[in-house]
Amino acid sequence: MINRVLSGITPSGSALHIGNYFGAVKPQVELQEKIDETFYFIADLHALTTVQDKGELEKNIVAVVLDYLSLGLDPEKSIFFRQSDVPEHSQLAVVLANFVSLGHMKRMHAFKDKLQKGEKPDSINMGLFNYPILMAADILLYKPDGVPVGEDQRQHIEITRDIAEKFNKVVKQEVLRLPEPVISKEVGKVVGTDGERKMSKSLGNVIGIFEDEEIIKKQIMSCFTDPNRKKVTDPGKVEGNPVFIYHDLINDDKGEVEDLKNRYRDGRVGDVEVKERLFEAHKRLFEPARKRRKKLEEDMELVKRVLAEGAEKAKKVARETLEEVYEAIGIKNSLSVK
Ligand code: ADP
Ligand code: TRP
Repeated sequence: MINRVLSGITPSGSALHIGNYFGAVKPQVELQEKIDETFYFIADLHALTTVQDKGELEKNIVAVVLDYLSLGLDPEKSIFFRQSDVPEHSQLAVVLANFVSLGHMKRMHAFKDKLQKGEKPDSINMGLFNYPILMAADILLYKPDGVPVGEDQRQHIEITRDIAEKFNKVVKQEVLRLPEPVISKEVGKVVGTDGERKMSKSLGNVIGIFEDEEIIKKQIMSCFTDPNRKKVTDPGKVEGNPVFIYHDLINDDKGEVEDLKNRYRDGRVGDVEVKERLFEAHKRLFEPARKRRKKLEEDMELVKRVLAEGAEKAKKVARETLEEVYEAIGIKNSLSVK
C-alpha cells in the first residue's frame, strides 16, 4: 500500500512541455486523489548546478510554482514547498554523503552525461557531482513509499535506496525507509517532435504548454510524421508516429482520433489536417490551465502564502527524521544543546 509520495521539480528554466506534463505533472497531480499524503517541492538548491544568476533563479522558481498550481496541484491536498525553506534537506545530505562511495557516484548518469559532452571530470562542479546525495536527502527525510518521476530519474531512486540501506545497516536500525520509484510505463518517456529522441527542452524537440498559441502551432506543424509517406494518398503508418502518439495523449475526442487513424492508414487524410486537429485538442486540454495561470500571475501574495504554509508542514516531518538520523549516528548525544 502506498500512503505517502514525494517528488521534486528542478526550476532549471526550461518552460514545461507536454513530455514533462504527461511524464511527471499529470501523474503527480492525479496522485493527490489517490494517496493520503503527497509532498511536492521546488528543488531550488538543485537548480544551482546550472542557474547561478539570482534574477534568473527567482524567475524560474516563480514560473514552476505558477505552472504547477495552474495545472492542478492543489495546496489543500498536497504539501507544496520550496526545498531551501526546509534546511533539513541540506543537513541530511551532509550526513548521507558518508554512506556512498566515490566509485558509485562516478557511475551516475548526470555526471557521465557531462563527461560525454566533452567536459573534463576536474571541471564539473561538485554540486552536480553531489546532486544524487542531495536528492537522496530530499526523499529520505519524508519516508515516502513512492517517488513519482520520469524514467530518467530511476537511477537516482536506486542510489537513494542504496544509501538508505547502507545507513540502516551501519546504525543497525531501520531509520530510513527505502522508497519505490513510481514510473508510468506508457508515458515515462514521451518522444520528441523529431520522432527519435525523448522530448527535451535542450534538444529543441518539444511541444509547449504555456507559450503563445503561434509558437505551439509552429511546434505542432513541424512535427515529424511517417517519413515513407510521400503523398496524401499513400497509406500511412500510425504506430510509433509521434503525431498519433500525441493525439492519444492529448485529444479527448477518441472518436476523432480513431477516424483520423483509419483515414491515415488508408491514405485519406493529410498530415496538415491531423496536425491541425492536434492543435485544437491541445487548446481544449490546456486552455483552462492557461487562464488560471494568467490569474495567478496577478496574485503573488497567494502564491507566497501557499509556499510558506507548505514549508511549515514539510518542516515538521523533515525535522523529525533528521533528529532520528542524528541520534542513530551519534551527532545528537549528551553534549547536544537542547
Ligand atoms: P527536460 O528533459 O525537458 O529538461 P526535465 O529534466 O526538467 O525535462 O524533467 C522534469 C520531469 O519531467 C522529470 O520527472 C522527468 O523525468 C520528466 N520528463 C522530462 N522529459 C520527459 C519526457 N520526454 N517524457 C516523460 N517524462 C519526461
Ligand atoms: N532530479 C529531479 C529531476 O531532475 C528533481 C528532484 C530533486 C527530485 N529532488 C527530488 C525528484 C526528489 C524526486 C525526488 O527531475
